[in-house]
This record gives sequence, C-alpha cells and structure tokens, in this order.
Amino acid sequence: MIRTDAQALEQARDRLIVALDVPTEKAALALVSQLEGQCTWFKVGLELFIAAGPSIVEKLVSLGYSVFLDLKLHDIPNTVAGAVRTAGSLGARMLTIHAGGGPAMLLAAQDAAATLADPPQILAVTVLTSMDQQQLASVGVSHSAPDQVALLARLGLAVGIHGFVCSPQEVARLRGMTGEAGVLVTPGIRPAGAAQGDQQRIATPAEALRLGASYLVVGRPVTGAENPAQTAAAIVHEMSTALLHEART
Ligand code: C5P
Repeated sequence: MIRTDAQALEQARDRLIVALDVPTEKAALALVSQLEGQCTWFKVGLELFIAAGPSIVEKLVSLGYSVFLDLKLHDIPNTVAGAVRTAGSLGARMLTIHAGGGPAMLLAAQDAAATLADPPQILAVTVLTSMDQQQLASVGVSHSAPDQVALLARLGLAVGIHGFVCSPQEVARLRGMTGEAGVLVTPGIRPAGAAQGDQQRIATPAEALRLGASYLVVGRPVTGAENPAQTAAAIVHEMSTALLHEART
C-alpha cells in the first residue's frame, strides 16, 4: 500500500526498466553506473547480448540489479525449450518469447522454465509496439492490433503464461484478461515531448501506469538523453505521482 511520497518513489523505481540498447558492455556498464539509484531493473536485449554475451546478465545480477532478458525467442518448440533452460539459468528474472510462435512453442517454453530451480518469469511478446495497422496487414494479419494482442494473450494464458509484453494501448484490455496476477510489461513509453522514433503505439509513463502496466520499459528517451540520470529521475517522478494519485482515488 502506497502512503507516502517516499513509498511511491521506491515503487516507481522498482517498476521502471531501462533498456540497455547499446553496442558494448563498456557502454552498458557506464550507463548502469550513471543511473545508479534511479531504477532497480535493466533490460538486456539482442544488441547488448550479442555484443557482450551471457556474462553481462550475471554481471548485472552481481551488481544487485534485476535483469529482464529480452531475447524474444521464436523457433521450433524443442529449440525454444533448450534456449529457455540455458537463458533461464543466468539469473534473469524475466525472459521473453514471441507469442506468435504458437501454442506448442509457448507450452514448451513454459514447461522448460518449470524445470529450473529459480525460473525467470516467462513473458510472451504479443504485437511489437513498432507495428501499426499497415505493418500488421503487410505480414498478413488482418485483425486490429488490439484484437491480435488479445488473441495471442489467450494462447499464452491457455498454457499458464501470465506475463505479457504489449503496448500501453492494449494494456487495459490485457489487464482485464489476466486480472491482478498478470505481469504486464509495456515498452513504447514516451514522456511528453520525447521523440517517437520507430515506436507507433505509445503513451506517457503516467498513462501507461494508469492503464494497468506492471512495469514500463524505457530505452532511447533515457539512453539517448544528454543527462540520462536526470531524465530517468523525471520519469520516476512522473510515475510516483501517478501511483500516489491512484492510491488516493
Ligand atoms: O528505445 P525504446 O524506448 O523505444 O525501447 C523500447 C525497448 O523495448 C527496445 O529495447 C525494444 O526492443 C523493446 N520492445 C519493444 N516492443 C516490444 C517488445 C520489446 O519496443 N513489443
């Protein structure tokens, strides 16, 4: 229960995940040290994982951070199951797979995670936040983005996956499907005035929380800022104000 400004700030810092989308371990660790005290989570995505290797996850964990390993696994069930077992033993607390891999792949991933002593939360990526209606149509998806997100989420829920990555624009609908138990992670976060980049389905940090997001993933608005720590602090402040408001209404 949030009662004070300090509690709201602490919870905001625990719900902000900064995406370390940089090309070297050195650059990642420099950002981590600049952002000390601003957040407790970092996301390791493909760019950094390929450059630095699995040890970057272990390094961040040894520094005391929670790691979201965003590998977006999408392959045949047996291959994904193996990757979940190896990636899942690195100490990351969340690991992504693509829901579009289908029910058999989702089940294989969930079963593989269940064999681990300390499994990461499996998050199924629904529709990338960079996909708009036109992009979806071009790959043969005729559903609207929200309907496609709901369809993919149903596949995950059917095999016991309760964590999803979705845009802020679909998070309220997914919250309705998962209830409180759902872990909903939303990229596509843009503080007012920030550049949109390639993201299409976006919202501000406060809006995303109000709509039901559990965690916000923020990359370029922080990593590309002149002063990343100051920008992260402003995002945390916006989040904490939204959390306090929510607690009081
Ligand atoms: O720089 P930006 O804030 O757009 O970064 C968003 C991060 O979230 C990127 O690392 C991207 O890979 C990730 N992501 C996303 N959309 C998804 C899943 C992950 O943008 N559906």
